[in-house]
Amino acid sequence: MIGLRRVGPDEFVSRLDSVLDIYTAAMAPPVDQLSGRKAIMGNHAAHPGFTCLFAELADGTPVGLAYGFHGVPGQWWHDVVHQAVAERRGETSARDWLGDALELAEVHVHPDHQGKGVGRALVLNVCEGRPERTVVLSTRDLPTAARHLYRNIGFVDLLTAFVFPGGYERYAIAGAMLPLPSG
Ligand SMILES: CC(C)(COP(=O)(O)OP(=O)(O)OC[C@H]1O[C@@H](n2cnc3c(N)ncnc32)[C@H](O)[C@@H]1OP(=O)(O)O)[C@@H](O)C(=O)NCCC(=O)NCCS
Repeated sequence: MIGLRRVGPDEFVSRLDSVLDIYTAAMAPPVDQLSGRKAIMGNHAAHPGFTCLFAELADGTPVGLAYGFHGVPGQWWHDVVHQAVAERRGETSARDWLGDALELAEVHVHPDHQGKGVGRALVLNVCEGRPERTVVLSTRDLPTAARHLYRNIGFVDLLTAFVFPGGYERYAIAGAMLPLPSG
């Protein structure tokens, strides 16, 4: 039995090692990126409207998580994506999608527990009851489970083949109106 539990910013920061373990198992990132990723996640907890859900086993072991926050100018991802959407789709589109958005920063489920509906439940529940007009995210622009899941929930592509500054991998930027149709 896997249950979802809301986790506040203080608990999130105090459990960053568990968060990073799930992230590492799910994403298999290069080891030298982990400390940087941990610092970025810790900073995210201080963003306005931070919201996080842990997916936990009956004994409290976390096996998945999703978190996001209200995007505002001055945040790196927000500024980069706003500019890119404005350049490719126009300023109005950028404002419509990013002007009042929940930015879904991370969604991960440990591989031992994938394919059981946990990821879907995490995304739907983290978006539920949010005051924002939209929810936006970035994900690798590949035929992954994440791409499939987000499309299935109702996300549409805002940008494809997008390369973040300093990066080389291609990302899709996707968004959905809130409340989610399947939420
Ligand atoms: C994306 C992720 C969170 C989904 O979690 P999950 O608990 O497995 O998700 P669910 O069981 O709710 O749904 C998975 C869906 O993807 C499908 N799927 C699984 N593997 C897939 C693949 N390789 N390609 C396409 N679809 C796939 C499943 O069939 C299911 O779709 P369905 O409901 O239409 O049958 C999880 O796969 C994960 O942690 N992946 C690695 C980390 C990652 O990419 N995170 C997102 C970063 S933006």
